[in-house]
Amino acid sequence: MVEAEDLQSLKTIALFGGCRGPIWLSSQSLGNALEISPQTASRRLIALERQQFVIRSMKPDGQYVAVTREGELALRREYADYVRIFNPEQKQYTLTGVVISGLGEGRYYMSIPHYKEQFGSCLGFEPFPGTLNIRLDAASIQVRKHLDHAGWTEIPGFTADDRTFGGAQVIPCRIRGYRCAIVEPSRTHYPEDIIEVIAGCELRNVLNLNDNDTIEVEITHD
Ligand code: CDP
Repeated sequence: MVEAEDLQSLKTIALFGGCRGPIWLSSQSLGNALEISPQTASRRLIALERQQFVIRSMKPDGQYVAVTREGELALRREYADYVRIFNPEQKQYTLTGVVISGLGEGRYYMSIPHYKEQFGSCLGFEPFPGTLNIRLDAASIQVRKHLDHAGWTEIPGFTADDRTFGGAQVIPCRIRGYRCAIVEPSRTHYPEDIIEVIAGCELRNVLNLNDNDTIEVEITHD
């Protein structure tokens, strides 16, 4: 549980632009924005850094502060709560899990032109050839079950080169703001703790992900 005053400071730093990279920030300016003394503001910055919500660096012209990925996640969780309060008909689900490696099958399937076109036209991005596999935590396996009734789009199966390719269903989602989609083969029994995500970019690269890193997948639907 993140302390309320930490969230307040983090939000202020983010409003100054701290989610997009390091910004110049004195304890005085943070203090002014929060209506607290520079000393208290300085202590808050130290507390945020200790919890790895921000990174600070000293330059000749003063202190620079950037919100980390952890910090952004804390703000996004808060944001999801406000969506629930002010937009209750919009349902927001968050699945949490760790990145794992599969058997390289995603790359094969996502390179087949027919699938590429189908996924591309229904999602609005051309998928990177591969799927990012995520092993869900226990709570998220339960959340995942609620998604069965959410807005999946069916991609029909097809035949090419005397081979039958099965259908799939997809649902748009976001990972750290990037547009992605969860893909599931239709009619195949699939382990309930694994999801496969496609995106227009190589997520491991743009998000600097390695096996066992924890990530959150956000799904919003009306
Ligand atoms: O070998 P594996 O089944 O895990 O993966 P793949 O589906 O063949 O995808 C190739 C690699 O790209 C894997 O390391 C995936 O985790 C990664 N990937 C990614 O970073 N971003 C995507 N949008 C899709 C796959």
